[in-house]
Amino acid sequence: METHTGIESPKGVWWKRAHPTERMWVVIAFGWCMVLFAMMPLWHFKGGQNPAGVRYRVKPADYMRRTQEFIAAYKVGIDQGIPIVEPPPGSDIYLIGLSFAWQPILKLRQGTEYTLHLSSLDVNHGFSLYPMNINFQVVPGYDYGLRVTPTEAGDLRIVCNEFCGIGHHTMVGRVIVTDSAGREVAAAERAALTREATP
Ligand code: CUA
Repeated sequence: METHTGIESPKGVWWKRAHPTERMWVVIAFGWCMVLFAMMPLWHFKGGQNPAGVRYRVKPADYMRRTQEFIAAYKVGIDQGIPIVEPPPGSDIYLIGLSFAWQPILKLRQGTEYTLHLSSLDVNHGFSLYPMNINFQVVPGYDYGLRVTPTEAGDLRIVCNEFCGIGHHTMVGRVIVTDSAGREVAAAERAALTREATP
């Protein structure tokens, strides 16, 4: 009976040199890995891929209290039970992700910078601003302060893109961006249509 140990190689063909095309493939794959590896810091510094912002640890109860104070200070209306809040230009604004809603509805002004705070009170949610290409994880226990400047007026939707439970697909919020004069675009469009329709 033949035996072999760790010192003696087993007989067979496994030790054959790799075929030139296979070696070529390994070299190309390694080169590509290095390119992708270099892209990570490159995106960070050059690509505008990383948000400019700060992140703090926060207790969900404290974040809720701060957001409630914010809502109480700047509330201008209500839409289907969700308060509409119009904060002063340049201020800190707060948004809560909570199964399965976004609170409050933010009414912002075009061309004005705000610091948008995002946090969750329960599980991870995903903040996607439709139809913009923006996507953030909203994590309980962390307050993500993001400097944002709305560039276009409109009536936008926040879509949750992180599966958070049975009502995930219903978790839709709203952001209203008024034009630089503080007018709601949808309302202005409606007024223009009415004017056209009226002889
Ligand atoms: Cu919140 Cu999905």
